[in-house]
Amino acid sequence: MLSVGDVHPRLAEDLDSLPDLLDATRKAAGEALAGLAERAAAVPPGDVDRAPLPLEGAGARGALEEFSRRWEGGFAGSAGPRYLGFVTGGATPAALAGDWLAATYDQNPASSLDSTAADLERETVGWLAELFGLGAEFSGAFVTGATMSTVTGLAIAREWLGERAGVSVSEDGAAALGPVTVLSGSAHSSVLKALSFLGMGRSSLRKVPVLPGREAVDVGKLAEVLETLDGPAVVVANAGTVNTVDFDDLRAIAALKRRYGFWLHVDAAFGGFAALAPQYAALTAGLEQADSVVVDLHKWLNVPYDSAVQFTRRRDLQLRVFSNNAAYLGEIGETPDFLHLTPENSRRLRALPAWFSLVAYGRDGHREIVERCVTLARDLGARLDGSPRWRLLAPVRLNVVCFAPAVDRDIDALVRAIAEDGTTFLTPTVYDGRPALRAAFSNWRTTAADVERVFAALERVAAG
Ligand SMILES: Cc1ncc(COP(=O)(O)O)c(C=O)c1O
Repeated sequence: MLSVGDVHPRLAEDLDSLPDLLDATRKAAGEALAGLAERAAAVPPGDVDRAPLPLEGAGARGALEEFSRRWEGGFAGSAGPRYLGFVTGGATPAALAGDWLAATYDQNPASSLDSTAADLERETVGWLAELFGLGAEFSGAFVTGATMSTVTGLAIAREWLGERAGVSVSEDGAAALGPVTVLSGSAHSSVLKALSFLGMGRSSLRKVPVLPGREAVDVGKLAEVLETLDGPAVVVANAGTVNTVDFDDLRAIAALKRRYGFWLHVDAAFGGFAALAPQYAALTAGLEQADSVVVDLHKWLNVPYDSAVQFTRRRDLQLRVFSNNAAYLGEIGETPDFLHLTPENSRRLRALPAWFSLVAYGRDGHREIVERCVTLARDLGARLDGSPRWRLLAPVRLNVVCFAPAVDRDIDALVRAIAEDGTTFLTPTVYDGRPALRAAFSNWRTTAADVERVFAALERVAAG
């Protein structure tokens, strides 16, 4: 019988057999990873029967068995080499090891009162800043994804607008600021979400014309709009659009910033990785002149979900927005704890997988992943271009191929047919008013042989 103060018997059993349990879990993970390259890239959704809340508990081994039986088969091969939907990275071996240890040690780097975990996060953020060519004036923190990084960057921008208007948004609310102007050529949908979330409103975004046949902003038109404004604005620039990986001319935009004094937020969610490869680095020139920068790590760094970094040169404003003063949390010192800088207070040591991957493979290893992905995307682009069944809609600038069937077809039906084939998974989009497909290369495992298989599958589905 269980008496007060005893550990629950299931927990006690699991504690006793912990080494065996970890071995069983490692074995299950090893099998999943060994099968990853041949696993169906996507599993078309079906009906799922929900089980009732377990009352007795089956122990961890029981949970492992039930997971394998009921759920594992429905999981996509999204960490595998031919999953080209969205912009999806896998997990390098070292990143996976780091992620396991993040859960094992279960640190909370929100504060520095009890461990050095927050310093590991600071070291990692510093390495990442260096990787993306951002100088020592930038500080940053880990967040869950590019969307949250944009929320953080635009929250700091909002505080800056307040500073310029002589009001404190963090004290008095967004209403104190009144209407704001946010300008962008091809803002990612997450920018609108962030504007809604931050009380700036989706309608504060004004679309600036793009260059003909491009997704990059027309900098001349941007200057014309800036000229008409009464007060300071926020400019959201792109270092890699989601459809065609187009880059705004960040240097030219930074020159406008010196003239018009706006806040420059750059969405470099995955395009920022161009900075790692000498032949593509020029695309990101000017990134270092931004006020806030977004980089996703679960995309091209190949760390497990969910992980991104936000950078800013105005940590003072960031602190005003996110500070979380309480006696039990200690003083805010010279180097503020992360709970005073990020939307979350408590959070996992999300930096550890990135730290592991950077230590394991270095700048060089991660450069190679970027270069290989670009080469493979161009290879697929060239094959599609040479096929009578397909039409490339934009040059393959970096790692995304944007294309459409040569004859009009229902894109959603095509996406389903590709998913059912299982060789690859692609996501739909609309580019230049036309329904299209995107194939995004960002997984460290992908090779030339995968491109051959993806192309063969696409030809098969198009012919079918
Ligand atoms: C350019 C860009 N910005 C932002 C995002 C949002 O990223 P997340 O889903 O990690 O929040 C994406 C996702 O694909 C993206 O491509």
